[in-house]
Amino acid sequence: MTLRVAILISGSGSNMVRLVEDMVGDHPARPCLVLSNVASAGGLGKAQARGVPTAVVDHKPYGDDRAAFEEALHSALVAHGTQIICLAGFMRVLTEGFVRRWEGKMLNIHPSLLPKYKGLNTHARALEAGDTQAGCSVHLVTPALDDGPILGQRAVPIQPGDTVDALAARVLVEEHQLYPAALRDFCESVSKHNE
Ligand code: GAR
Repeated sequence: MTLRVAILISGSGSNMVRLVEDMVGDHPARPCLVLSNVASAGGLGKAQARGVPTAVVDHKPYGDDRAAFEEALHSALVAHGTQIICLAGFMRVLTEGFVRRWEGKMLNIHPSLLPKYKGLNTHARALEAGDTQAGCSVHLVTPALDDGPILGQRAVPIQPGDTVDALAARVLVEEHQLYPAALRDFCESVSKHNE
């Protein structure tokens, strides 16, 4: 049975595009939804252009009521038959209640070599620390931020005189290879397990 993958974004959605483009042919999954918490997210148009259904669940009207926001998110995901979630530049922290409902079925890409630099400003922190390499990680989402089991990583050498933007651009190239490969492996093992 083909697995149904929802991709959650907040911005340009370049990782989302790579995931969508990879889910063809013998891939065990297909994209069922691209959902954003930001109505103006550039990725929404890219998903529509590729024939993927889109939805917006804006967090702002919910204010501090994270549970109500996440209930709306959950309903949209269920309405589209979601079985697996990929967070791809989705910039909302999810509460334990939501994560537990999707635990073992939700992947995230993070722009650092976890466990280093959880949270924001990862590239600036790597440069400030004088690291010789940066990178990206795909991991399963657990209630603690950027902390779940790692499914794959790619390292990127830091060059003398590197800037945050230059480093981020080189890491993003690796993200675009890593995430589709990690999702494919993950879906293949889920499919085998379901046989
Ligand atoms: C990516 O670099 C991703 O790793 C990062 O946001 C960017 C989204 O780019 N995610 C995080 O920082 C999550 N904490 P994209 O919208 O072009 O895929």
